[in-house]
Amino acid sequence: MAVDALAALIADRGPCVALTGAGMSTESGIPDFRSATGIWAEVDPYEVASIDAFHRDPERVWRWYASRIHSLLDAEPNRGHRTLAALERAGHVQAVVTQNIDTLHTRAGSVEVVEVHGSIRRATCLACATPEPVDGVLEQLESGPVPRCRACGAVLKPDVVMFGELLPVGPFARAERLARETGLLLVVGSSLQVWPAAGLPETAIAHGGALAIVNDEETPFDWQADVVARGPAGETLSAVAALLDAGGSS
Ligand code: APR
Repeated sequence: MAVDALAALIADRGPCVALTGAGMSTESGIPDFRSATGIWAEVDPYEVASIDAFHRDPERVWRWYASRIHSLLDAEPNRGHRTLAALERAGHVQAVVTQNIDTLHTRAGSVEVVEVHGSIRRATCLACATPEPVDGVLEQLESGPVPRCRACGAVLKPDVVMFGELLPVGPFARAERLARETGLLLVVGSSLQVWPAAGLPETAIAHGGALAIVNDEETPFDWQADVVARGPAGETLSAVAALLDAGGSS
């Protein structure tokens, strides 16, 4: 069974580095992007989540992000998040590299979290780099269509990586280093279609690491994986943690 094979692989090659995507948070009620029921089936990312759209029509982009930030803040970590945190405490997970902006790994208790696509924690002024915490952003959005920099008045941009933008240099360099040095990269809930994060499995393999994938659907990297567990992230991870005696969480 894939769950037994995954537990054995973690015991043998761990501590692992987890690479998580939107499928990690669907069990918290947050839709993913590329499933049949995903966000990009409803809305065109180039209209609401690209840097071009932001420059062209920041009000439209902020309307979309305002509702997204509210729903992400309302969501709670699920047992998959909690299990990764338990696996970290038990020494089986070295770090979580996440493409998610929802902060749920940190809220679940994971300590070493690398957010390669930014997060909803704050917005930053593109003109003078002054940051604004999310509470201040939401407060401003109650009285106006876009939040503005308190120092210079320019429109703020959420600290998330939009289509057409480069990834934050420090976090992505750290993610690449983790992928190079780990004995096992464990991908959870990502379609592995978005680069450069989708390059991390090959980085791990090229440096001698093993690859495991926990995902509902096929990914382009399944053929390179030592173990593929097809199924819900929360259930799969808690079954694996129970086998490792590391506090599967219900
Ligand atoms: N358990 C396991 N897998 C799941 C679950 C679940 N509960 N729910 C969904 N999945 C799978 C889906 O089948 C899909 O293959 O998770 C994958 C999610 O893939 P995407 O929606 O493409 O999300 P992700 O890989 O994180 O996307 C990367 O794309 O638009 C951007 O910036 C956004 O960070 C995001 C990036």
